[in-house]
Amino acid sequence: MKICCFTATGNSLYVARRIGGEPLSIPKLMRAGRPGIEDDAVGIVCPVYAGDMPGMVRRFLARASIRADYLFFVYTYGMSETSARPNAIAAAKDAGLALDYVNAVKMVDNYLPGFEAQSQIDTAGAKNIEGQIDRVCADIAARERNVRGVNPLQRAEMAVIRGTMGRFIFDSRAAQRYIVNDSCVRCGICAKVCPADNIAVTDAVRFSNRCEVCYACLHNCPKNAIHLKSEKSAARFRNAHVTLKDLIAQND
Ligand SMILES: Cc1cc2nc3c(=O)[nH]c(=O)nc-3n(C[C@H](O)[C@H](O)[C@H](O)COP(=O)(O)O)c2cc1C
Repeated sequence: MKICCFTATGNSLYVARRIGGEPLSIPKLMRAGRPGIEDDAVGIVCPVYAGDMPGMVRRFLARASIRADYLFFVYTYGMSETSARPNAIAAAKDAGLALDYVNAVKMVDNYLPGFEAQSQIDTAGAKNIEGQIDRVCADIAARERNVRGVNPLQRAEMAVIRGTMGRFIFDSRAAQRYIVNDSCVRCGICAKVCPADNIAVTDAVRFSNRCEVCYACLHNCPKNAIHLKSEKSAARFRNAHVTLKDLIAQND
């Protein structure tokens, strides 16, 4: 089994590891050109962004050549997955793939303009995260099939969410508005955890226009030096089972 993963703060990496098999990094696969992934079972694990998958995961699905007897898609999310599951089914279909299983695990929400990270961490116990992951692992081990088609109402909802929320949040120039304060020691970790190679650290931290709006740089800065005007607080999050080294290995 191979699992292709996109992660900024480790939730999706943790779920991918719990499911098992050989973990693969979607950012690295994308840098390698046209990825070919073949196994008895292949999975994709990534966060929900605005009721959809991250842009890079969508591009990965369109570009990759995936061959598997059993193909699954697991999202992690914090609040509401809205149309994420039908979006996965539709994006896979567009890529000529048929998903066998789609599910989602509710975890800590890392969307800084919407949620205060510390209260998200403090209340995560109520989400029964381990129980949800156990269920997903058991389903996949049993090669459970659960995909229903996308109905026209869901398609309309998907289009609206992608069009409005998507346009509002996902701007490849978003990082140009990030504020790097004087605590920055130019250690370069922001550049290493960025899945999009969007950051260069020289005499200052410089952002290009390929931001995936994943906030890996904000959450993982050891000096907490990168901020958003609109963030709920300066608190940051990384999944407790995942280290900074793991995220660098995943995204650098
Ligand atoms: C830009 C952005 C948009 C997000 N949109 C949603 C959303 O629509 N619904 C939701 O429940 N969580 C949303 N989240 C929260 C993430 O899906 C969630 O925290 C996820 O588990 C993070 O995964 P990671 O740790 O692997 O990066 C969003 C996060 C970001 C950064």
